[in-house]
Amino acid sequence: MTSGHEAAPIRIDTTRPHPARVYDWWLGGKDNYPVDEELGRKILAADPAVRRGARANRRFMHRATRAVALAGVRQFLDIGTGIPTEPNLHQVAQGVAPKARVVYADNDPIVLRHAEALLRGTPEGVTDYVHADVRDPDTVLSLAAESLDFGQPVSLSLVALTHYLGDAADGDDVHGLLKRYVEALAPGSHLILSQVTADLNAEAVERAAELFRHSGTPFFPRSIGEFSRFFDGLELLGPGVIPVSGWRPDAEDVTAQAEGIVPVYAGVARKP
Ligand SMILES: C[S@@+](CC[C@H](N)C(=O)[O-])C[C@H]1O[C@@H](n2cnc3c(N)ncnc32)[C@H](O)[C@@H]1O
Repeated sequence: MTSGHEAAPIRIDTTRPHPARVYDWWLGGKDNYPVDEELGRKILAADPAVRRGARANRRFMHRATRAVALAGVRQFLDIGTGIPTEPNLHQVAQGVAPKARVVYADNDPIVLRHAEALLRGTPEGVTDYVHADVRDPDTVLSLAAESLDFGQPVSLSLVALTHYLGDAADGDDVHGLLKRYVEALAPGSHLILSQVTADLNAEAVERAAELFRHSGTPFFPRSIGEFSRFFDGLELLGPGVIPVSGWRPDAEDVTAQAEGIVPVYAGVARKP
Protein backbone atom coordinates (compact mmCIF):
# COMPACT_ATOMS: atom_id res chain seq x y z
CA MET A 1 0.00 0.00 0.00
CA THR A 2 1.13 3.51 -0.73
CA SER A 3 -1.78 5.73 0.05
CA GLY A 4 -2.94 9.30 0.29
CA HIS A 5 -1.45 10.70 -2.89
CA GLU A 6 -3.67 9.33 -5.62
CA ALA A 7 -5.41 12.65 -6.23
CA ALA A 8 -2.32 14.74 -6.98
CA PRO A 9 0.73 13.93 -9.09
CA ILE A 10 3.96 13.81 -7.09
CA ARG A 11 6.03 16.95 -7.69
CA ILE A 12 9.43 17.41 -6.10
CA ASP A 13 10.21 21.09 -5.53
CA THR A 14 13.94 21.61 -6.03
CA THR A 15 13.75 25.40 -5.72
CA ARG A 16 13.60 25.47 -1.93
CA PRO A 17 15.17 23.24 0.73
CA HIS A 18 13.11 20.51 2.37
CA PRO A 19 13.81 19.17 5.91
CA ALA A 20 13.94 15.51 4.79
CA ARG A 21 16.55 16.30 2.13
CA VAL A 22 18.66 18.58 4.37
CA TYR A 23 18.68 15.80 7.00
CA ASP A 24 19.64 13.32 4.26
CA TRP A 25 22.59 15.56 3.35
CA TRP A 26 23.77 15.67 7.00
CA LEU A 27 23.53 11.87 7.13
CA GLY A 28 25.73 11.58 4.02
CA GLY A 29 22.86 10.54 1.71
CA LYS A 30 22.57 11.28 -2.00
CA ASP A 31 18.88 12.14 -2.18
CA ASN A 32 19.17 15.90 -1.90
CA TYR A 33 19.56 18.90 -4.19
CA PRO A 34 21.94 21.91 -4.23
CA VAL A 35 19.39 24.04 -2.29
CA ASP A 36 19.33 21.41 0.47
CA GLU A 37 23.11 21.15 0.63
CA GLU A 38 23.39 24.95 0.76
CA LEU A 39 21.05 25.19 3.77
CA GLY A 40 22.63 22.10 5.34
CA ARG A 41 26.09 23.72 5.12
CA LYS A 42 24.84 27.04 6.55
CA ILE A 43 23.20 25.29 9.51
CA LEU A 44 26.31 23.16 10.05
CA ALA A 45 28.39 26.34 10.19
CA ALA A 46 25.94 27.86 12.71
CA ASP A 47 25.75 24.70 14.81
CA PRO A 48 28.65 22.27 14.26
CA ALA A 49 26.88 19.61 16.39
CA VAL A 50 24.12 19.21 13.85
CA ARG A 51 25.62 16.36 11.82
CA ARG A 52 26.57 14.42 14.95
CA GLY A 53 23.07 15.20 16.18
CA ALA A 54 21.43 13.71 13.08
CA ARG A 55 23.44 10.50 13.46
CA ALA A 56 22.79 10.30 17.21
CA ASN A 57 19.09 10.86 16.61
CA ARG A 58 18.99 8.10 14.01
CA ARG A 59 20.72 5.68 16.40
CA PHE A 60 18.19 6.58 19.12
CA MET A 61 15.42 5.55 16.70
CA HIS A 62 17.14 2.18 16.28
CA ARG A 63 17.60 1.57 20.04
CA ALA A 64 14.11 2.73 20.98
CA THR A 65 12.45 0.66 18.24
CA ARG A 66 14.41 -2.42 19.26
CA ALA A 67 13.49 -1.88 22.93
CA VAL A 68 9.78 -1.59 22.12
CA ALA A 69 9.89 -4.64 19.83
CA LEU A 70 11.67 -6.60 22.57
CA ALA A 71 8.89 -5.50 24.93
CA GLY A 72 6.52 -7.44 22.65
CA VAL A 73 4.97 -4.73 20.45
CA ARG A 74 4.44 -6.02 16.89
CA GLN A 75 2.90 -3.00 15.13
CA PHE A 76 4.69 0.26 14.33
CA LEU A 77 3.47 3.62 13.00
CA ASP A 78 6.36 5.95 12.19
CA ILE A 79 5.36 9.50 11.25
CA GLY A 80 7.97 11.81 9.71
CA THR A 81 9.93 8.84 8.38
CA GLY A 82 12.50 10.69 6.30
CA ILE A 83 14.34 9.47 3.23
CA PRO A 84 15.25 5.80 3.74
CA THR A 85 18.66 5.39 5.42
CA GLU A 86 19.71 1.89 6.41
CA PRO A 87 18.90 0.43 8.80
CA ASN A 88 15.35 1.72 8.57
CA LEU A 89 12.78 1.24 11.31
CA HIS A 90 11.14 -1.81 9.68
CA GLN A 91 14.52 -3.53 9.45
CA VAL A 92 15.08 -3.00 13.18
CA ALA A 93 11.54 -4.07 14.17
CA GLN A 94 11.42 -7.05 11.79
CA GLY A 95 14.96 -7.97 12.90
CA VAL A 96 13.42 -8.66 16.33
CA ALA A 97 10.05 -9.95 15.08
CA PRO A 98 9.87 -10.87 11.37
CA LYS A 99 6.05 -10.66 11.45
CA ALA A 100 6.10 -7.04 12.66
CA ARG A 101 3.72 -4.73 10.76
CA VAL A 102 5.16 -1.30 9.97
CA VAL A 103 3.46 1.75 8.47
CA TYR A 104 5.51 4.81 7.56
CA ALA A 105 4.01 8.28 7.02
CA ASP A 106 5.54 11.49 5.68
CA ASN A 107 4.30 14.51 3.75
CA ASP A 108 7.36 15.00 1.54
CA PRO A 109 6.95 13.66 -2.01
CA ILE A 110 10.61 12.68 -2.21
CA VAL A 111 10.11 10.38 0.78
CA LEU A 112 7.17 8.80 -1.02
CA ARG A 113 9.24 8.20 -4.16
CA HIS A 114 12.05 6.52 -2.20
CA ALA A 115 9.69 4.63 0.07
CA GLU A 116 8.05 3.02 -2.94
CA ALA A 117 11.44 1.91 -4.25
CA LEU A 118 13.28 1.00 -1.05
CA LEU A 119 11.04 0.11 1.86
CA ARG A 120 10.65 -3.63 1.36
CA GLY A 121 10.17 -5.68 4.49
CA THR A 122 10.12 -9.34 5.39
CA PRO A 123 7.70 -11.63 3.49
CA GLU A 124 6.02 -12.53 6.82
CA GLY A 125 5.59 -8.93 7.97
CA VAL A 126 4.01 -5.81 6.50
CA THR A 127 5.83 -2.65 5.40
CA ASP A 128 3.54 0.08 4.09
CA TYR A 129 3.75 3.78 3.42
CA VAL A 130 1.19 6.56 3.80
CA HIS A 131 1.71 9.91 2.10
CA ALA A 132 0.02 12.27 4.56
CA ASP A 133 0.58 15.19 6.89
CA VAL A 134 0.92 14.53 10.64
CA ARG A 135 -1.40 17.51 11.20
CA ASP A 136 -4.21 15.46 9.65
CA PRO A 137 -4.55 12.64 12.23
CA ASP A 138 -7.86 11.38 10.84
CA THR A 139 -6.25 10.66 7.46
CA VAL A 140 -3.03 9.21 8.92
CA LEU A 141 -4.91 6.96 11.35
CA SER A 142 -7.53 5.76 8.89
CA LEU A 143 -4.94 4.94 6.21
CA ALA A 144 -2.69 3.26 8.81
CA ALA A 145 -5.68 1.22 10.01
CA GLU A 146 -5.68 -0.53 6.61
CA SER A 147 -2.52 -2.31 7.81
CA LEU A 148 -2.53 -1.98 11.61
CA ASP A 149 -5.05 -3.17 14.19
CA PHE A 150 -5.52 -0.25 16.58
CA GLY A 151 -7.25 -2.64 19.03
CA GLN A 152 -3.75 -4.04 19.70
CA PRO A 153 -0.63 -2.19 20.93
CA VAL A 154 1.13 0.03 18.40
CA SER A 155 4.49 1.75 18.70
CA LEU A 156 3.95 5.34 17.53
CA SER A 157 7.17 7.17 16.68
CA LEU A 158 7.69 10.80 15.74
CA VAL A 159 11.45 11.03 15.70
CA ALA A 160 12.88 14.50 15.02
CA LEU A 161 9.49 15.71 13.78
CA THR A 162 7.79 17.80 16.48
CA HIS A 163 10.27 20.68 16.15
CA TYR A 164 8.63 21.41 12.77
CA LEU A 165 5.24 21.77 14.47
CA GLY A 166 4.06 24.85 16.35
CA ASP A 167 2.03 25.32 19.50
CA ALA A 168 -1.65 26.31 19.72
CA ALA A 169 -0.76 29.98 19.17
CA ASP A 170 1.06 29.03 15.94
CA GLY A 171 -1.96 27.14 14.65
CA ASP A 172 -0.59 23.59 15.02
CA ASP A 173 -1.30 22.80 18.71
CA VAL A 174 1.33 20.07 18.69
CA HIS A 175 0.46 18.91 22.23
CA GLY A 176 -3.23 18.57 21.34
CA LEU A 177 -2.21 16.73 18.17
CA LEU A 178 -0.07 14.21 20.05
CA LYS A 179 -2.90 13.66 22.53
CA ARG A 180 -5.23 12.87 19.64
CA TYR A 181 -2.83 10.20 18.32
CA VAL A 182 -2.23 8.70 21.78
CA GLU A 183 -6.00 8.51 22.42
CA ALA A 184 -6.28 6.30 19.33
CA LEU A 185 -3.81 3.76 20.74
CA ALA A 186 -4.62 0.64 22.78
CA PRO A 187 -3.15 0.06 26.27
CA GLY A 188 0.37 -1.37 25.97
CA SER A 189 1.15 0.95 23.04
CA HIS A 190 4.34 3.00 23.13
CA LEU A 191 5.28 6.55 22.15
CA ILE A 192 8.81 7.21 20.86
CA LEU A 193 9.80 10.89 20.52
CA SER A 194 12.83 13.07 19.96
CA GLN A 195 13.10 16.77 19.23
CA VAL A 196 15.57 19.66 19.17
CA THR A 197 15.92 21.80 22.31
CA ALA A 198 17.51 25.19 22.97
CA ASP A 199 18.07 24.21 26.63
CA LEU A 200 21.47 22.96 25.48
CA ASN A 201 23.83 24.97 23.22
CA ALA A 202 21.16 27.71 23.11
CA GLU A 203 22.94 30.18 20.86
CA ALA A 204 23.92 27.65 18.20
CA VAL A 205 20.45 26.06 18.21
CA GLU A 206 18.75 29.45 17.85
CA ARG A 207 21.04 30.35 14.92
CA ALA A 208 20.20 27.02 13.24
CA ALA A 209 16.47 27.45 13.93
CA GLU A 210 16.56 30.93 12.40
CA LEU A 211 18.18 29.56 9.23
CA PHE A 212 15.40 26.96 8.92
CA ARG A 213 12.74 29.66 9.42
CA HIS A 214 14.43 31.96 6.91
CA SER A 215 14.35 29.14 4.34
CA GLY A 216 10.57 28.81 4.80
CA THR A 217 10.47 25.93 7.31
CA PRO A 218 8.96 26.88 10.70
CA PHE A 219 11.13 25.54 13.53
CA PHE A 220 10.30 25.22 17.25
CA PRO A 221 12.98 24.06 19.73
CA ARG A 222 11.35 23.04 23.03
CA SER A 223 12.42 23.06 26.68
CA ILE A 224 12.56 19.88 28.73
CA GLY A 225 9.24 20.84 30.36
CA GLU A 226 7.51 21.39 27.00
CA PHE A 227 8.95 18.16 25.59
CA SER A 228 8.07 16.13 28.70
CA ARG A 229 4.43 17.25 28.44
CA PHE A 230 4.10 15.11 25.29
CA PHE A 231 4.24 12.09 27.61
CA ASP A 232 1.50 13.24 30.02
CA GLY A 233 -0.65 10.30 31.13
CA LEU A 234 1.95 7.75 29.93
CA GLU A 235 4.57 5.73 31.83
CA LEU A 236 8.05 6.86 30.85
CA LEU A 237 10.51 4.03 30.33
CA GLY A 238 13.93 4.41 31.95
CA PRO A 239 15.99 6.56 31.83
CA GLY A 240 13.13 9.03 31.15
CA VAL A 241 13.54 12.23 29.12
CA ILE A 242 17.20 12.74 28.41
CA PRO A 243 19.56 14.10 25.70
CA VAL A 244 19.36 11.65 22.84
CA SER A 245 22.73 9.90 23.14
CA GLY A 246 22.03 9.16 26.81
CA TRP A 247 18.93 7.07 26.10
CA ARG A 248 20.16 3.51 26.82
CA PRO A 249 23.45 4.22 25.01
CA ASP A 250 25.45 1.54 23.27
CA ALA A 251 29.21 1.69 22.81
CA GLU A 252 28.95 4.00 19.76
CA ASP A 253 26.82 6.47 21.73
CA VAL A 254 29.22 6.49 24.65
CA THR A 255 31.97 7.44 22.20
CA ALA A 256 29.69 10.05 20.57
CA GLN A 257 28.82 11.55 23.97
CA ALA A 258 32.50 12.23 24.55
CA GLU A 259 32.45 14.51 21.45
CA GLY A 260 29.94 16.81 23.13
CA ILE A 261 26.28 17.03 23.98
CA VAL A 262 23.69 16.91 21.20
CA PRO A 263 20.80 19.36 21.75
CA VAL A 264 18.05 16.83 21.10
CA TYR A 265 15.78 15.38 23.81
CA ALA A 266 14.47 11.84 23.60
CA GLY A 267 12.01 9.70 25.49
CA VAL A 268 9.95 6.52 25.22
CA ALA A 269 6.75 5.86 27.15
CA ARG A 270 4.11 3.15 27.50
CA LYS A 271 0.37 3.73 27.51
CA PRO A 272 -1.07 2.09 30.66
C1 LIG B 1 14.53 15.36 10.40
S1 LIG B 1 13.59 14.25 9.44
C2 LIG B 1 13.52 12.86 10.55
C3 LIG B 1 13.50 11.52 9.83
C4 LIG B 1 13.45 10.29 10.75
N1 LIG B 1 12.27 10.31 11.59
C5 LIG B 1 14.67 10.21 11.61
O1 LIG B 1 14.62 10.67 12.76
O2 LIG B 1 15.71 9.71 11.17
C6 LIG B 1 11.93 14.93 9.61
C7 LIG B 1 10.92 14.29 8.70
O3 LIG B 1 9.62 14.80 9.06
C8 LIG B 1 8.90 15.04 7.86
N2 LIG B 1 7.86 16.03 8.12
C9 LIG B 1 8.03 17.35 8.41
N3 LIG B 1 6.83 17.95 8.57
C10 LIG B 1 5.89 16.97 8.41
C11 LIG B 1 4.46 16.96 8.45
N4 LIG B 1 3.78 18.08 8.71
N5 LIG B 1 3.82 15.79 8.23
C12 LIG B 1 4.51 14.65 7.97
N6 LIG B 1 5.87 14.61 7.91
C13 LIG B 1 6.55 15.75 8.13
C14 LIG B 1 9.94 15.53 6.87
O4 LIG B 1 9.51 15.39 5.52
C15 LIG B 1 11.12 14.63 7.23
O5 LIG B 1 11.08 13.46 6.47
